[in-house]
Amino acid sequence: MKTLTITRPDDWHLHVRTGAVLQTVMPHTARRFARAIIMPNLKPPVTTVAQALVYREEILQAVPTGLDFSPLMTLYLTGSTTADEIKKAAESEHIHAFKLYPAGATTNSDSGVADIKAVYPLFAAMERHDIPLLIHGEVTDDACDIFDRERVFIDAYLSDITRNFPALRVVLEHVTTTEAVQFVQDADANIAATITPQHLLFNRNAILAGGIKPHYYCLPIIKRESHRLALVAAATSGNPKFFLGTDSAPHLTSLKETACGCAGCYSAHAALELYAEVFEGANALDKLEGFASFYGADFYRLPRNSGTISLEKTVWKVPSAYGEDNLSITPLKANEELCWKLG
Ligand code: NCD
Ligand code: ZN
Repeated sequence: MKTLTITRPDDWHLHVRTGAVLQTVMPHTARRFARAIIMPNLKPPVTTVAQALVYREEILQAVPTGLDFSPLMTLYLTGSTTADEIKKAAESEHIHAFKLYPAGATTNSDSGVADIKAVYPLFAAMERHDIPLLIHGEVTDDACDIFDRERVFIDAYLSDITRNFPALRVVLEHVTTTEAVQFVQDADANIAATITPQHLLFNRNAILAGGIKPHYYCLPIIKRESHRLALVAAATSGNPKFFLGTDSAPHLTSLKETACGCAGCYSAHAALELYAEVFEGANALDKLEGFASFYGADFYRLPRNSGTISLEKTVWKVPSAYGEDNLSITPLKANEELCWKLG
């Protein structure tokens, strides 16, 4: 049997929610990853160091005994975030970044930033305290076609942010377009990007052809094939600006399979396996370790993990759902076969 062994990886963009959902999803991530950057878009959002430390404890309680997993916390940036909170966050060993959601861009982003220019003084504070800014890079303008929202954001906001704050470390989260890949490649070394499994595996036909498939609906929305190919090329290039961030975003099946379904794909159940499939398909399995286990840690200035994880080339079938009783979460590739299995 073929075995793939790499240094233990980290997930640099993850939603785990709270309560029963957290209990259901946390074991999946903790079995595969040593650390994960935890998104703060709870209801209400995690906006202060004090709230993040409470949330961190809840996450740690949900990690199965015997697994060694560290949540890396982030704070949700709002129009009322203070420079003092940024200083406190930068000084906390548990807080690793601020997350910018343009107001209304995605799930639980209502408290996000409505006027990006108005928070420039906060970007200046992040630059000064050297704490990274993670960006959901989509404009929220109703008049902008949903497939263009990332590209337009880069021209309308991102270029200006990186020009004005040249030392600010920025992660353009879950990139989905050729233009985003190009922007990050051309930018300075302090600008990086995460890439999800769904944007590497699928194009928009997965959502819309042969019937509407809500479990492939996430934001930024999956684009056409030419963009997917650019993302695969970036992820498998060995360029340290691109690293693993699943954006695994659990929603109850009932809230996805409905007239107005939530955005988010659940991938934590097989995250590394899905990336392995992509890298193998691109003949680049030798590039997976850098993408999954080295470049993110280097960007966040954290030590690389010790220890390894192994995947075996064995076919297995993804269950139709995870979670007990009333809680059902439909995973990516539900009822389908995967070719890599956790050892
Ligand atoms: C995420 C969620 O559900 O929290 N949804 C998504 O479609 N990716 C939010 C986000 O990262 O945009
Ligand atoms: Zn996300």
